[in-house]
Amino acid sequence: MAAAAINIAPEDVVQASQQNERVPEPGVVVIFGASGDLTKRKLLPALFHLEQAGLLPEQFRVVGVARRDLGAEFAKDMKRGIIEFGGVKDGANKLDRFVGKVGYHQMNFDDDEGYAQLKALLEGYDRDYGTRGNRLFYLAVAPEYFADIIHRLGNHGMAHPEIGTARVIIEKPFGHDLESARALNDDVNKVFDEQQIFRIDHYLGKETVQNILVFRFANGIFEPVWNRNYIDHVQITAAESIGIEGRGPFYEKAGALRDVVQNHMMELLSFVCMEPPVSFHADAVRYEKVKVWRAIKPIDIRDTVRGQYGPGVVDGVEASGYREEDRVNPDSQTETFTALKLEIENWRWAGVPIYLRAGKRLHKRATEIMIEFKQPPTLLFNRANRGACKDIQPNLITMRIQPDEGISLRFGAKVPGPDMTVCPVNMDFNYATAFGTSSANGYERLLLDAMLGDATLFAHRDGVEATWSLYTPVLEAWANSKPLAFPNYASGSWGPKEATDLLLRDGRQWKKL
Ligand code: BG6
Repeated sequence: MAAAAINIAPEDVVQASQQNERVPEPGVVVIFGASGDLTKRKLLPALFHLEQAGLLPEQFRVVGVARRDLGAEFAKDMKRGIIEFGGVKDGANKLDRFVGKVGYHQMNFDDDEGYAQLKALLEGYDRDYGTRGNRLFYLAVAPEYFADIIHRLGNHGMAHPEIGTARVIIEKPFGHDLESARALNDDVNKVFDEQQIFRIDHYLGKETVQNILVFRFANGIFEPVWNRNYIDHVQITAAESIGIEGRGPFYEKAGALRDVVQNHMMELLSFVCMEPPVSFHADAVRYEKVKVWRAIKPIDIRDTVRGQYGPGVVDGVEASGYREEDRVNPDSQTETFTALKLEIENWRWAGVPIYLRAGKRLHKRATEIMIEFKQPPTLLFNRANRGACKDIQPNLITMRIQPDEGISLRFGAKVPGPDMTVCPVNMDFNYATAFGTSSANGYERLLLDAMLGDATLFAHRDGVEATWSLYTPVLEAWANSKPLAFPNYASGSWGPKEATDLLLRDGRQWKKL
């Protein structure tokens, strides 16, 4: 297919980004669970990128909190993380100065004495470094610690400080079903007000995800056709070629539905399907998202597919099956793949199926949203019979969330020649070509927004409960059904045959990625 690139002048990009600079108040980011991978691979590199971009205040500190006795080693380890995972060169401008602002506090999360010392440490920062009582607590710990840490922060007067503001970022998973999510929300809301709470989903930090809203609501031409009159169906795929990466105990309890569908994929769905919000402010955006989730029909269990990978070959390398992974039950019934059909019962979407699929150890890594439009009412032109142009194809908008970020529009074009042969071609927008590459990992934007107190790109309690309401009955039905003959797809494939059948049944196919 032919592709037409769209080019943007680099000076326009620089100008646009300069206008958007937002620098938070002085403050401290306090990371609980700082010895874990997330801090080193994502959070510290993201904070350093903000520093490089001039988006952090001068009076800024980071303090890592964890049980291990790391002391000054912590800052050195974080420096290595920034270099390795942040694509930063050793000796980069501002790097040592930034690392000099990184401190460490050793404590057990259930030790009150440790909280008292932490409070004293932060007050010392206020005096010595001018951080003015502003704290952003980041809970990068296992979910069983969330409620207790929050409770103790409250008891030690750190949730509602006399001077400055306190905010808390809570990592996923936010609950493992509706009941546990409600209980956690209740626990957190006893200590922090809703506007202090930032439930993070790193998908919302991705440029391409935010761009879904820009595509729909900053352009006049798409919105009029963005409904059941013109759209045939929607497909959302989140395919990963990696396996569970040593996270056996976590994944055994989670599975694909809890790990990525209830959160990341539902965020994607909400941006594709929500009504235009009245403004781009937290409450307005989150209100529209919840409306869409609540409009989804209870899922018919026959519209769900589960899969688990067996051995196979991914990218030319032999891969073992899920049941052979470290600390995984050799008879595990945990799904590493799921496909679902959803229906949104509202004026815009009634009758337009939304198909979701997500899985590990699939053929390749690709997260994409595909909107397939209805065919024109009559086909004027002869069906072509040349090579790729066999059938007249429906229009498609494909949003490539990652890794090849961009958007393409497929339409039919006349093949040069004496007859009216129609062939599909693509108009293609590619992020890297248009704007240059970006090292952003999604966390930059979200950390910055949380420091600024802007919750637009964070989950609200109502939203979390709405998505769990939808999926809890599915999880219960799966748990009560008879064991499946797992593994049912080979590593390196596109998942189990049942996923293909889910669409075939409706006369459709998954788009080739
Ligand atoms: C995480 C999941 O939330 O998202 C992982 O726990 C998954 O299992 C990851 O691999 C995918 O994120 P990304 O940004 O690589 O698409």
